[in-house]
Amino acid sequence: METSAEKNCTNTNACNLVEKVPGACVLVIFGASGDLTSRKLVPSLFRLFEKDLLPENFSIVGCARTQMGDEEFRKKAELAIKDSIKADIPRKILEIFLQNVYYISGPYDSIETHKALSTKISSIELKFPGGQAGRIFYLATPSILYGQIVELLSEAGLVKEDDEGFRWRRVIIEKPFGRDLSSANELEKQLKKHLKEKQIYRIDHYLGKDTVQNILMLRFANAIFEPLWNNKYVSHVQITVAESIGVEHRAGYYDQSGLLRDMFQNHMMEMLSLVAMEPPASFDANRVRDEKAKLLRSIHPFPIDNLGSCIVRGQYSRGKITGEEVPAYLEEEGVRPDSKTETFVAARLAINNWRWNGVPFYLRAGKRMPRRVSEIAITFKKIPHSIFMPLLPEDLLQNVLLLNVQPEEGFSLHIQAKKPGPKLCMGNLVMDFLYKDIIKGEPPEAYERLLLDCMLGDSTLFIRNDTIEISWSLLTPVLEAWETSKEQEKIGDLFKYESGSWGPKESSSLIHTGSEWRRP
Ligand code: BG6
Repeated sequence: METSAEKNCTNTNACNLVEKVPGACVLVIFGASGDLTSRKLVPSLFRLFEKDLLPENFSIVGCARTQMGDEEFRKKAELAIKDSIKADIPRKILEIFLQNVYYISGPYDSIETHKALSTKISSIELKFPGGQAGRIFYLATPSILYGQIVELLSEAGLVKEDDEGFRWRRVIIEKPFGRDLSSANELEKQLKKHLKEKQIYRIDHYLGKDTVQNILMLRFANAIFEPLWNNKYVSHVQITVAESIGVEHRAGYYDQSGLLRDMFQNHMMEMLSLVAMEPPASFDANRVRDEKAKLLRSIHPFPIDNLGSCIVRGQYSRGKITGEEVPAYLEEEGVRPDSKTETFVAARLAINNWRWNGVPFYLRAGKRMPRRVSEIAITFKKIPHSIFMPLLPEDLLQNVLLLNVQPEEGFSLHIQAKKPGPKLCMGNLVMDFLYKDIIKGEPPEAYERLLLDCMLGDSTLFIRNDTIEISWSLLTPVLEAWETSKEQEKIGDLFKYESGSWGPKESSSLIHTGSEWRRP
């Protein structure tokens, strides 16, 4: 069987790394008629193909309940690619890509579907040199089906690897990884009955974003930041993920989930761990994930009897986003009229370790906020003494290193500098680095990196089960307190906030005196 090949990286003008092209692979997508497949997976695979990063022998097999044949699925895939990639796509390239796309229909819980899948994969592999390929099973289905699909894959002999590691079999799963600690443990038990940890790739698409990956490069490939990255110099850290969209057509899922499960348990915790973890011994999947787990273990638990002092939840009411009236959460289609589901959470976290003792980490995420922005702001302490009298240290703005995750990918450094002119006059200077200034076109879609890494067997950007368990251990007591609290107990009230605002005003109480939430 083919193994991966190395290629010089041509994406940037100064690249020290080598991009690898994986060996032969068949990628099966369960949930192939769904939204994720058409919005993200198929377009990302096509972009990898265009960049010559897919294996020479590569096929996609879509699998879903919807009845259709290969040709109809190819048409759907073509539409999805054209919808997502606005630029002109050479017909020939599209045709070659689509020739390797197949489809199989059937209920996920039937062994017959899995047997038919096995036959289809074998017939595809026969066309490959050596007659076999690595296999990825992407579960883009509701998470409730994961356990059963994996069981039947195993029964059909589809996930059995050989001892030499040539016939590799990998399963990608999407969040939600359970809805609390016990359901996450239950899911893990079901998966581990049939799969080894190294076969399971748990996706958090935030880890595939270039700017999120850049956190580690910025911290550990430069000498200038790390000496300042601690409680001696950092005053506080704010992580914001704001979205202007509401619940859209996902009320069925979202109303049962809420923001803490949807964003905090995964994306927010992952970003926090990358920003705050210790340097790993090497850029190796387990060394990186060991450090992330260690960091998450150091987070101080929320005080359940005084939750409101550390975590505030909210739900959007009517308002305006970019001048347009939008409905309240409770008026959205599919939302229960008396729903207590939160669409906003802000929290202050303390990390109990030598590096971060005393540095508050403020995390905030919400829907229907004024605009879409994800950023991490590291605010440094005031200078200890001012030589520029009468200006006092508190008169000077604190330095901020801002990591812009999206939409303006890049980072900026806010410093004090002399304003040009004869007088000694100081001002805030922002040194901006924007990705779009150095790369042509859009940065890669997060799923491109993640799909490619899975084909290469690199799980660095995937989540290990222990970090899921730790973050659920932290958040489950909060969810339970919210769910069982009575109105009069005032434990974690649900505050309303107007759509188009930065969340309920009560979230300001989390911030220590002298600071405030950023208005990105
Ligand atoms: C998903 C959440 O994981 O992330 C969504 O389920 C959210 O509710 C989305 O809208 C945000 O992702 P991005 O990449 O648009 O910031």
